[in-house]
Amino acid sequence: MKTLSTHSLRDQSIVVIGGSDGIGLAVAELAHQAGANVTIIARNAERLKAAAANLGPKVDARVGDFDVEASLKAALAHLTRIDHVHIAAGSAEFAHPLADNAAEKFGGVARRVVGSMQAVQLIAPRMPPGGSFVFTGGISTDRPVSTAWGTSVATAAVEQLARTLSITLAPLRFNAIAPGWTDTPMWDALLGAEKASVFASVAEKIPVRRLATAAEVAEAILLLMRVSSITGEVLHVDGGQRLI
Ligand SMILES: NC(=O)c1ccc[n+]([C@@H]2O[C@H](COP(=O)([O-])OP(=O)(O)OC[C@H]3O[C@@H](n4cnc5c(N)ncnc54)[C@H](OP(=O)(O)O)[C@@H]3O)[C@@H](O)[C@H]2O)c1
Repeated sequence: MKTLSTHSLRDQSIVVIGGSDGIGLAVAELAHQAGANVTIIARNAERLKAAAANLGPKVDARVGDFDVEASLKAALAHLTRIDHVHIAAGSAEFAHPLADNAAEKFGGVARRVVGSMQAVQLIAPRMPPGGSFVFTGGISTDRPVSTAWGTSVATAAVEQLARTLSITLAPLRFNAIAPGWTDTPMWDALLGAEKASVFASVAEKIPVRRLATAAEVAEAILLLMRVSSITGEVLHVDGGQRLI
């Protein structure tokens, strides 16, 4: 099978797990604009359908839950070849490590790691040499937030998973995106009315003095897909936050 082109995503099959909102939706949009055949997967059918309708007819939408292997398997069943995958599914988890529900939150950590491995097991056999996975790490690896300990462990784990699999499953490529604070609907749900003030206080502390947009993070994810020599990389889009 021909090795993938370095620069073009045209006619490539790209799957975005968690593609109906936020960073994943921005990846789907950019990939679609680049001429790729895009499949987006998420749990909420209505939001998924609306996202696909906005993106256009070449975008395929499949309901699927990243946390449930059988569900992800069913969502991918129609695809015989997959060139690139971005796993965006996930959220930040907050709980004091000694709180009653801490073990439950740790389940979320495990799901991000186990889910990523399950996705690799399902997809790698359908991927040509040079195809790539982009996992989601994050700023929490370098700058842990006290109650988001589980998220820090999870992002660090998938970043390391990318490094490890880039050797184990070569010539398939494995990278991770590590977003800093990014303005997405995830924060509407987590911060509610506090969102604007929290964002302002974060922005004034970081070198670029602003939060990233989902589109900026998506650009970096597409770069990881496009450049055939990048593997085992963790690409930070954090406005320099990890340096301060
Ligand atoms: N925004 C930030 O500041 C930031 C920073 C660092 C890292 N991250 C990470 O970046 C990723 C994307 O974040 P975001 O801010 O774009 O989130 P978002 O706006 O909440 O979007 C998440 C997307 O993933 C889907 N999803 C969530 N759980 C899923 C599951 N189990 N199975 C399938 N789809 C699922 C959601 O749809 P459904 O709910 O319908 O399934 C939605 O389409 C997350 O892993 C997040 O932890 C975000």
